Order: sequence, then C-alpha cells, then structure tokens
Amino acid sequence: MRVALGADHGGFHLKEAIKGWLEELGIEYEDFGAHSEDSVDYPDYARVVAEKVAAGGFDRGILVCGTGIGMSIAANKVPGARAALCHDVFSAQATREHNDSNVLCLGERVIGQGHARAVVETWLRTGFAGDRHARRVAKIRGIEDVYYGCGG
Ligand code: RB5
Repeated sequence: MRVALGADHGGFHLKEAIKGWLEELGIEYEDFGAHSEDSVDYPDYARVVAEKVAAGGFDRGILVCGTGIGMSIAANKVPGARAALCHDVFSAQATREHNDSNVLCLGERVIGQGHARAVVETWLRTGFAGDRHARRVAKIRGIEDVYYGCGG
C-alpha cells in the first residue's frame, strides 16, 4: 500500500506523527507537505493528495488540517476522491466498508494523537465490503459523471 500525505499548518504536527506510525507499520508513504508550521492554504494540499489518489499512483491519502473539514470539502471536489472526515474508530471502519473511502481527513485541533492513531490504523486495515455498497459507490461516480463529465 502507498499512502499520500498532506497537511496545512493546522495539521502539520499530526501529519508528522502519522509518518512515524506508517513507518512502524511498514507502509510506504510520500509527504506532499506542508513541511513546516508556516501558514498555508489547505485546498492546495487537499488537491494534490486527492489527485494523486484519484490518478491511481497512491492507494490511499491522509489529509490533516485544524478541523479536517476544509480538507474533506476540498478533496471531495476531485473526481474519484472519496474523502471521509473521521474522528472515531467506528466511522473509520464504516467508511471503508461502506464508502470505500480512499482519503482520510483528520483535525489536529479536534483529536488527540492516541485516538488518531487508532482511527488511522483502523481505516488503513479495513477493506471495502462491496455488494450493495458497490452499487452505492457507483452512484457517487454517476454524480461525478453528471457534474464533471467523468467517472473519476
Ligand atoms: C487553519 O487555520 C484552519 O482553517 C484549517 O486548518 C482547517 O481547520 C480548515 O478547515
């Protein structure tokens, strides 16, 4: 599995921690920034990570900002990205099983690192359940077809 990582200044420290967790798990990643606490604009990082995942070069993406909300709004504008804002383990598991989410969004100002690690690890290891959920994910692609003229 290859994971694309991104954060703004509000998510910088949690992104750095996630890199350590991925290394412990033996999961390959690429860090698309930000590389410091200097103020930046979260849509720039949401866009690059979502595009990398949607293009197929990465299996998953993880985006962190202060709340995770801006990242999730922006990432979901990229066709093929299914970004899920999760601050609990139940949602992390459910979004993988039901939505086949390929981008996880977290808010550093919302969740502690211990809980975030459980969310990240659950999200990474949980598979898509398929079946009726595949029909629903296909309908999400159908919405992209209507508005973007492509299926992601
Ligand atoms: C930055 O101050 C903050 O707005 C950003 O990290 C994020 O929370 C936006 O949704």
